[in-house]
Amino acid sequence: MAGAEDTRSPGLPRLAFPLLLLFLLPARPTFGAPPYEPTWESLDARPLPVWFDQAKFGIFIHWGVYSVPSFGSEWFWWYWQEQKKPEYVTFMKQNYPPDFKYEEFGPQFTAHFFNANTWADLLQASGAKYVVLTTKHHEGFTLWGSKYTWNWNAVDEGPKRDIVKELEVAIRDRTDLHFGLYYSLFEWFNPLFLEDKSSSFHKRQFPVSKMLPELYELVTNYRPEVLWADGDGGAPDSYWNSTGFLAWLYNESPVRDTVVTNDRWGAGSICKHGGYYTCSDRYNPGHILPHKWENCMTLDKASWGYRRNAGISDYLTIEELVKQLVETVSCGGNLLMNIGPTPDGTISPIFEERLRQMGTWLNVNGEAIYGTHVWRSPNDTVTPDVWYTSKPKEDLVYALFLKWPTSGQLFLGQPKATFGSTTVKLLGHGQSLKWTSSEQTGIMVNLPHLTINQFPCKWGWALELTSVL
Ligand SMILES: *[C@@H]1O[C@H](CO)[C@@H](O)[C@H](O)[C@H]1NC(C)=O
Ligand SMILES: *[C@@H]1O[C@H](CO)[C@@H](O)[C@H](O)[C@H]1NC(C)=O
Repeated sequence: MAGAEDTRSPGLPRLAFPLLLLFLLPARPTFGAPPYEPTWESLDARPLPVWFDQAKFGIFIHWGVYSVPSFGSEWFWWYWQEQKKPEYVTFMKQNYPPDFKYEEFGPQFTAHFFNANTWADLLQASGAKYVVLTTKHHEGFTLWGSKYTWNWNAVDEGPKRDIVKELEVAIRDRTDLHFGLYYSLFEWFNPLFLEDKSSSFHKRQFPVSKMLPELYELVTNYRPEVLWADGDGGAPDSYWNSTGFLAWLYNESPVRDTVVTNDRWGAGSICKHGGYYTCSDRYNPGHILPHKWENCMTLDKASWGYRRNAGISDYLTIEELVKQLVETVSCGGNLLMNIGPTPDGTISPIFEERLRQMGTWLNVNGEAIYGTHVWRSPNDTVTPDVWYTSKPKEDLVYALFLKWPTSGQLFLGQPKATFGSTTVKLLGHGQSLKWTSSEQTGIMVNLPHLTINQFPCKWGWALELTSVL
């Protein structure tokens, strides 16, 4: 449009135009609704898509070139070359030629047995409602054929396959899980990042030419419903242009209505900005938080990536995992439980067993987990290891208990019975249980006498209480 004083559409009568404007343009941006502005104030006001709070349980998968040495942890490269930790240096000396480079592990990342359908079926069996796959960890290797890497990616090297696409298709075709992606913003040894860093992040070559284009590529090609950012490398969100990217993600991207993100979008943003809070690894505050949060933790106590030198005592037991889930959900969090596949693409039997056990437990107790809300008290004040969730609309409270009392009686100090209406049931058992209560003191539940084969499950139980205060 050139040089016209009057740029209004020629066909519209003059009077109608201002009126039309009123309909087309919102007077001012409304917080908590699109369009979002590239500011934390605006982005933080976006309501979290509801599916995420209802899901409660997700599986995290750490898979990359670090799975090849599978020694120590997924921080292998850093610990070996940067920190020169003695056990890593010795491991390399003993097993590899002196001039061996980390990059040479790339071709050994074969994924020979990787079958995305097998993974998807196992994830479904775990009872999880979402999965988060590491598309790129701090080593920089991408599990998809990023156009912004040379050959440090799974399509040009190692598997020669688009791992992200294969898993996306299998998850969407075979399961009801939401598909999520983890992405490390920084890369330990990327020369562009290191140059930016030495300019105190005044230069922005790395986010402009690598990180931002990759994020747009990931979202456009794989439509993740969780975008799990990590690894700010000590740089502020302004360096990463996180708010600019998130405004696009929430306003315009193909997943704008359903995507959730976490809080790791630049130095200082954790536990403060973004979508839900992760705060720290293995975060489990033990009290209710007003903001949605997630406890990301790993089955192997010492590592997120697979390691061959783990023994049985390094893995959390199913009792410990059920406890993590119950505590987390009772305090308003989601549990994101991590496994690390082998470089062949198999999921080791210990991880498989734990995943299937979680599914077995959730088959019986899922009613007390999925779609629940926090109750007024997350745990019991009298009996230890009793945790509460609720479904207010259905007038239900669940008491999850992790120890079966030897007396056969479980005392709940928090709920107050309403006489005539309160019923108590053990999930997976069916019949109403007898209970007694004297006005101010909570409820004493008589648990059923069960033989070992009659127990609905073994690692924790749930009582469904109706009409309690
Ligand atoms: C940040 O991202 C937004 C949205 O893509 C873009 O418009 C803006 O120019 C970017 N700013 C910088 C400093 O890169
Ligand atoms: C549970 O409740 C009690 C009593 O309110 C409290 O002291 C305790 O810290 C809570 N949390 C845990 C993890 O037991």
